[in-house]
Parts: sequence; C-alpha cells; structure tokens
Amino acid sequence: MSYEIIKWVHILSGIVLFGTGFGSAFYKFMADRSHNLDNIAITNRHVVLADWIFTTPTVFLQPLTGFWMAHERGFGFSSGWFMLAVGLFIFAGLCWLPVVWLQIRMRNDAQSALARSGQLPPRYQSDARLWFWLGIPAFSSMVAVVWLMVAQPALA
Ligand code: HEM
Repeated sequence: MSYEIIKWVHILSGIVLFGTGFGSAFYKFMADRSHNLDNIAITNRHVVLADWIFTTPTVFLQPLTGFWMAHERGFGFSSGWFMLAVGLFIFAGLCWLPVVWLQIRMRNDAQSALARSGQLPPRYQSDARLWFWLGIPAFSSMVAVVWLMVAQPALA
C-alpha cells in the first residue's frame, strides 16, 4: 500500500480522534450544566456511543499506521521527537481508560435517575469533575503529539 494512503489514513484518524474527544467533552460539559435530566441522559448515552464508534478504532489506527510509517522512514529509538510522541500518546491513553469507565458509570446513573428517582446520585458530580480534569492532561498531550508529528524537532 502506498505511503501516502497510510499517511492520509493516519491524519484522518487523528482528526477523528481529536475531534470526537473535543466535541464529546463540549456537549457533555454543556449538558451537565443544563441540569436538565433528559438532556444529561441522552448526551451521556451519545458520548459513550461516540467513544465506541469513533474513538476506539482510531486509538488502534493511530499507532498501527504511525509505526508502519516510522518503519518505512527509519524512525526509532534514536528519534527523540518520535519516542516522546509515543510516550505522550501512551500517557493520553492511560488518562482515557478511567474516562471511559467514568462515562459508562455516569451514563448508567443518568439512565436510572431518569427511570426511577429523577435525581442524579451524589457521585455523579464528582465523577463529572474527575472526568473533566482527566481530559486536561490527555488533551494537552495530544496537542503536543500533533506538534511533534508536524515539527519533528531534533531532540537529543
Ligand atoms: C503511537 C502513536 C503515533 C505514531 C507511532 C505516529 C507516527 C507518525 C509518523 C512516523 C509520522 C511521520 C510521517 C511522515 O513524516 O511522513 C506521523 C505524522 C503525523 N502524525 Fe502521527 N503518530 C502517532 C499518533 C498521532 C496522533 C495521536 C496524531 C493526531 C491526533 C498524529 C498526527 C500526525 C500528523 C498530523 C502527521 C503529519 C505531519 C506532517 O506530515 O507534517 N499522530 N506520525
């Protein structure tokens, strides 16, 4: 397969990964602030769905296409920018795993509040706060990864 096609897939999947994360964070943040339980429940459901449909495949596509290109171009342990980018990508992934778990728990809590009490459990707010704060280092790392990919600076 031609290098350009793989690079195109890599960049396109990076856009989807980044855009889904940013969009989901915005819509969920706004829904939580609306204090409208219907809105909160539907948005949480869609955030979890978007993670399965869009984020999960791209989380695998990025390193697969990236390592393939690195192999073709001869980037490796000696390329500082490349190793830093891989490290930051793993760090972002480690932040994302608890985020996925929190999202599923918030979705379930919102569904049962809608079906039963009409009240979100107290842990919902602390889950939403933790979810938000885990997103900050994850997004910052991704911004740094994109810069490293584009600039490919000569690091040690
Ligand atoms: C383990 C994860 C990753 C690996 C191994 C990897 C690897 C690579 C490599 C080797 C290139 C150089 C291609 C070239 O110069 O021809 C590249 C380019 C690029 N990568 Fe990644 N990448 C990863 C993750 C990401 C992520 C998460 C994003 C964005 C969200 C991203 C966005 C880009 C972009 C935009 C380019 C094109 C840069 C340019 O040509 O100026 N990559 N990647």
